[in-house]
Amino acid sequence: MSTLVSPHGGNELKPLIHPQAERPDALKRAEGLKKIPMTSRETSDVIMLAMGAYTPLSGFMGEADWRGCCEEMKLADGLFWPIPVTLSADQELTDGIGIGDEVALIDGDSGEIMAVMEVGEKYAIDKESECQNVYRTTDPGHPGVEKVLDQGEINLGGRVMALSEGEYPQKYPDLFLRPAQSRALFTDKGWSRVAAFQTRNPMHRSHEHLAKIAIEVTDGVFIHQVLGKLKDGDLPAEVRTKAIQAMIDNYFVDGTIVQAGYPIEMRYAGPREALFHALIRQNFGCSHLIVGRDHAGVGDYYGPFDAQHVFDTLWDGALITVPLKIGVTFFCEKCDGMATAKTCPHDPEHHISISGTRQRQMLSNGEDIPVEFSRPEVIKILQEFYTGQG
Ligand code: ADX
Repeated sequence: MSTLVSPHGGNELKPLIHPQAERPDALKRAEGLKKIPMTSRETSDVIMLAMGAYTPLSGFMGEADWRGCCEEMKLADGLFWPIPVTLSADQELTDGIGIGDEVALIDGDSGEIMAVMEVGEKYAIDKESECQNVYRTTDPGHPGVEKVLDQGEINLGGRVMALSEGEYPQKYPDLFLRPAQSRALFTDKGWSRVAAFQTRNPMHRSHEHLAKIAIEVTDGVFIHQVLGKLKDGDLPAEVRTKAIQAMIDNYFVDGTIVQAGYPIEMRYAGPREALFHALIRQNFGCSHLIVGRDHAGVGDYYGPFDAQHVFDTLWDGALITVPLKIGVTFFCEKCDGMATAKTCPHDPEHHISISGTRQRQMLSNGEDIPVEFSRPEVIKILQEFYTGQG
């Protein structure tokens, strides 16, 4: 029997994808259906549903689930759910769709048919209320809010069965792990307490320190990176993966780390998204989620530790996976080593920290990055990328 945490809301993962052998026939049928183009976020949500990462959802949310999720972080049946998983379209398109109709969901960029949805509901949403509840702001300058405001005016809810996982399995053959696969891998390794490290960035020494703290108190760390679309300025997944691998190969004990990726698209919703990340990691079999400074945040929209505090507001039984809350990590010249605010008594002027913008400048100009900040093997890969960009 598995000693890993149970999937969210029950004992079984619920991947929503046709078995490989059924896909050609299902696809043929789907080709005759009305087509709904999806945004990149919606396509990524279909793949998350397909792989079982959103267990136990059965598709895109209907109105009661959407409202409960936004206002109370609960689905209509009371199950904890902190981020809406919705599909929207323009009224013009939805007017011609009846309740009970099947529609084909297509990737708006590639045109590929990704899934078939049985439309259970059509409803208009209050976008401002969604943004205020989920993002704590309605500022269109927030990249998550901007996407909600850009959505079509009608949400379509209903059961989804996917036909494809897009390019992910081919593009990332070693990184793209479905929850059933990560669970099998952890079980194989004899791990039961697994800490996930969510990331969309390369890992410098502060991140290495977070992962190493987690290794001390669990069986291993799952470095789980975002493979979905990111905002401008974020590093492409291929480069990030290579840099992270260089750090693992040179600075970690064999067998303590698994590196993988998942197809989510960031919402940058800070605290709410940290909760979502924990729920998703529960499905992947992780008992812990590392939550450090400004987890899933952007700009100054959230306080540095809001994403840690929000876990204290949950009710009993909301989640099994718990946060591993860790303070700001840095190299301190006086300690002459890595530390956190809890372990270092020295003034911040002794802490080595370089902002993301400054790092990019330094890397593009070929300037040296202090070894106290980042490992030379990692810097080399990043420098190649940034200088190559011209
Ligand atoms: S994100 O999706 O959470 O935004 P990011 O790569 O920026 O990904 O951060 C990964 C994890 O490391 C998050 O839990 C974040 O809080 C934590 N983190 C990043 N830098 C630090 C730091 N210097 N000190 C403590 N935690 C950090």
